[in-house]
Amino acid sequence: MCGIIGICGTDFVAERLIAGLQRLEYRGYDSAGIAVIDHKALHRVRAAGKLENLRQSYASAPIDGLTGIGHTRWATHGGAEEHNAHPHGTEAVALVHNGIIENFHELKATLGDVVWTSETDTEVVVHLLEAELKTGADPERAMIRVLPKLEGAFALLICFRDYPDTLIAARQGSPLAIGQHHGESFIGSDAVALSGLADQVCYLENGDWAVLKPDTIQIFDAANKTVTRDFVANTVQIAGLGKGNYPHAMLKEIHEQPGVIGDTLHSLIDPKTLMINWADYPQSQYLRTPLIQFTACGTAYYATLVAGYWFEQLCRIPIRHEMASEMRYRDIVCPQNSLGIFVSQSGETMDTMEAMRHWQELGGQTTAIVNVPTSSLAREAHHTIPTLAGPEIGVASTKAFTTQLTALHCLAIWMAEQMGSIPKAQAQSMVADLLDLSGKLVAALSIIEDYKIIAKEVLAPASGVFFLGRGLNYPIALEGALKLKEITYMHAEGYPAGEMKHGPIALVSPELPVIFIAPSDRWFSKTFSNIQEVAARDGNLIMLTDQAGTQAVKEHGLDHKVRCITLPDVPETLSPILYSLPVQMLAYETAVCLGRNIDQPRNLAKSVTVE
Ligand code: AGP
Repeated sequence: MCGIIGICGTDFVAERLIAGLQRLEYRGYDSAGIAVIDHKALHRVRAAGKLENLRQSYASAPIDGLTGIGHTRWATHGGAEEHNAHPHGTEAVALVHNGIIENFHELKATLGDVVWTSETDTEVVVHLLEAELKTGADPERAMIRVLPKLEGAFALLICFRDYPDTLIAARQGSPLAIGQHHGESFIGSDAVALSGLADQVCYLENGDWAVLKPDTIQIFDAANKTVTRDFVANTVQIAGLGKGNYPHAMLKEIHEQPGVIGDTLHSLIDPKTLMINWADYPQSQYLRTPLIQFTACGTAYYATLVAGYWFEQLCRIPIRHEMASEMRYRDIVCPQNSLGIFVSQSGETMDTMEAMRHWQELGGQTTAIVNVPTSSLAREAHHTIPTLAGPEIGVASTKAFTTQLTALHCLAIWMAEQMGSIPKAQAQSMVADLLDLSGKLVAALSIIEDYKIIAKEVLAPASGVFFLGRGLNYPIALEGALKLKEITYMHAEGYPAGEMKHGPIALVSPELPVIFIAPSDRWFSKTFSNIQEVAARDGNLIMLTDQAGTQAVKEHGLDHKVRCITLPDVPETLSPILYSLPVQMLAYETAVCLGRNIDQPRNLAKSVTVE
């Protein structure tokens, strides 16, 4: 959840550390800090709150050096206050940490007379290391002695006053990427941290620890044996990380969707044959799977709920859905050769990672659909399908979701065609529909005034919002409610439209707008009955629909009661992709009306690497 960065260089590092923290701020923004070594002294500057506060503290009392570490925090142990901000340290050691040291309480008890300066789990590692240094151990020896004592999932980065050209890092669960450029070494939570600093990066594996000097990087495994880790190109471009010409990264990412969905499609489809291009997919194993289990968290989980409809209908295979945080602790049954599909934007979500490892231990096959191709999930899955959304910086996921839907739909078509449950011509026609989608997405994004008016007049003044949908669009109702909650802090609920009458209809009142996601599909007449039920109770109704749906509202004389947002017609199976856009835009415009911090909503962080 936190972001960490370190530089062991030949030029001053403070400004570069702060710039790196800016790229990492999406991982947490409760506090930030840096530590540098200068003339055999360790200096730290820290500030509670956003990075801007650190910039101000740094400007009023600048520090610098050739070696340093930085941290942006998502609080776990101890409040979002300066004394809990990283780096933690003493005069001799400074340390930043991502993750949780689970046995910190027991370890504290072993340390005797220490003056604790924070409520964090992290500080104990500082004092364990210092105790080792006091016995005459050098940093490497101190690490070898301390690391086996630490339990939990963590990434650590440490600098030492008496070893000014050395940084030490350790990875147990939480990722760390290392790079080198022009005689300087860099390390960070991910490739985003190192973009603009290193063109090639390698990733520490679980249990690895490393010693970085300006011109050398030594990596050791858990048994302290020297190991090499492959370097790959760091493809993250700084240019793609900002807000562009948009006021918020979220709005930029919403508008990128037609393009990145197209990129994802073109990476999976052969445009000449209109077939999905998976020559090297392990057909014999996967096509015999007795069931497909989907596992993910949050928005990615909702993508898998949509996928369930596609796979069930096209492949005629039993489907199971699991939330990763629940599944990882379940005594779950994995029938032989079963395929598990794990979906994640970051590929570092701890619960999804552990759920995938659990499935693999049970003998299951694993496919990861993931946006960060170098992530832990991508590297540990048996097979990976990358989504090409590009870096997603807005904490509220948008383009990652719709590219996940795109990849999942392609996989469903491919499996169905390979299994013979749909004919080749049907598969080709579905692929053609996918390729035809981008113009409709652009059209859905062009009716900005419709979203603005409803946000201003209906949603922003409301006490809460209901999102209802059926079938393929029930998960979009869930996603709409999650988006609104995340960035407006309003209460919102997503519900299957048919379940309303079993209780939630009691809440219907003019103060609680109800948004129906209702394309004119096979579920429409049922959903329309639910719309009438709400209208009969003077509910405040909004309907996301198409031409035929808008016409139905008029024909039933409901146009004075229902505000329609009319979207382009789209084949039924693709409506969840198209209808994701208006729910994102409604959440965004409502958050704008309420003056929320859209890219950094309270209490959240982009990547959840703790349990
Ligand atoms: C979405 O807006 C959320 N911020 C969150 O639910 C997210 O989708 C979830 O934490 C899963 O993340 P992942 O896709 O990186 O695994």
